[in-house]
Amino acid sequence: MENMPGRKINNKTLVDRFGRTHNYLRFSITDDCNFACTYCRPDGNSCTKSNNILSVDEFEEICTVFINLGIKKIRITGGEPLVRRDFNEIANVLGKFNIEKAITTNGLLFDCYFETLKKNNINRINISLDTLKDERFFEITGNRYLSRVKENIQLAVDKGFLVKLNVVVIKGTNDDELTDFVNLAIKLQITVRFIEFMPFKENNWKFGSMVRHDDILQNISSKFNLIPDTLLQSEPAKYYSIKGQKGRIGIISTVSQPFCDNCNRIRVTADGKIKSCLFGHSETDLREALRNKQDMSEFIKNSLVSKALKHGGKKPFESNNDVNFNRSMYSIGG
Ligand code: 5AD
Ligand code: SF4
Repeated sequence: MENMPGRKINNKTLVDRFGRTHNYLRFSITDDCNFACTYCRPDGNSCTKSNNILSVDEFEEICTVFINLGIKKIRITGGEPLVRRDFNEIANVLGKFNIEKAITTNGLLFDCYFETLKKNNINRINISLDTLKDERFFEITGNRYLSRVKENIQLAVDKGFLVKLNVVVIKGTNDDELTDFVNLAIKLQITVRFIEFMPFKENNWKFGSMVRHDDILQNISSKFNLIPDTLLQSEPAKYYSIKGQKGRIGIISTVSQPFCDNCNRIRVTADGKIKSCLFGHSETDLREALRNKQDMSEFIKNSLVSKALKHGGKKPFESNNDVNFNRSMYSIGG
């Protein structure tokens, strides 16, 4: 371990043993959600007891330690972050930090919170939407608020947020809507990102229900003239411009072409566990460290020591048998 860069080089940065600098924190502030998407919370699973969820003060303390360790961007995730009753306070805390700020949401409550988000410079917003069809939306999410989500996407654009849509592509569920989503990207002049369906605990993942990057690309290229954008390192998506248009698309190929080599992400769950990798089992209990008044930065640095090079050290996901996860997506935050 002596020559691990993360242990020696610089106390102010989070570098792992593969030389990857971690400057992007994804912070889940609740594992509760007002949707029950089939691929994420199929049975609308109950959420963690509130005393196990980090308080606003704890959120602030943890963010501060991470920022002192070189974190330059924080994205708030969930579950659905906007269901947290004290969301305004969380946003106000985030607003104090001079870093890049972002949120991932299903968009349903965006109209209630866009002013808070704006005021606190949380101006990057990823909205998850997997279908533009009413009945299908109900089948996927368990609710009928598609029109409100669509209005909120428009509202986010109108209010000047940097909007990306996230579409999880599932064979036989919504893979016939790729063209409609590209047209939406063109119409709203935003980025639409197609995400390969990933395996998580109890999320009905099957190898055969995944649509791979190459198939998504082929499908869209047959109808649109796509121009690959220069790769941004550490971006999980490959981006493509659409000739003559401002909207663009991205494809997140976590399963078929992992972007682990450039990973700059570290995650904190709503109950205060550090996950150094989305797919890894290893967790570090930061909440206990904080409540016991221990030095959190040591815990954070140590959490990276075991970070694997790819997919949490798992084999490539090539069959239904490779699924062995200790958490569901809604409790990690994506
Ligand atoms: N595979 C791919 N993406 C997923 N998301 C949730 N579960 C999965 C999954 N199994 C997406 C959500 C959201 C983002 C945080 O992750 O739709 O856009
Ligand atoms: Fe909620 Fe997002 Fe999971 Fe759907 S995918 S249940 S909106 S956390």
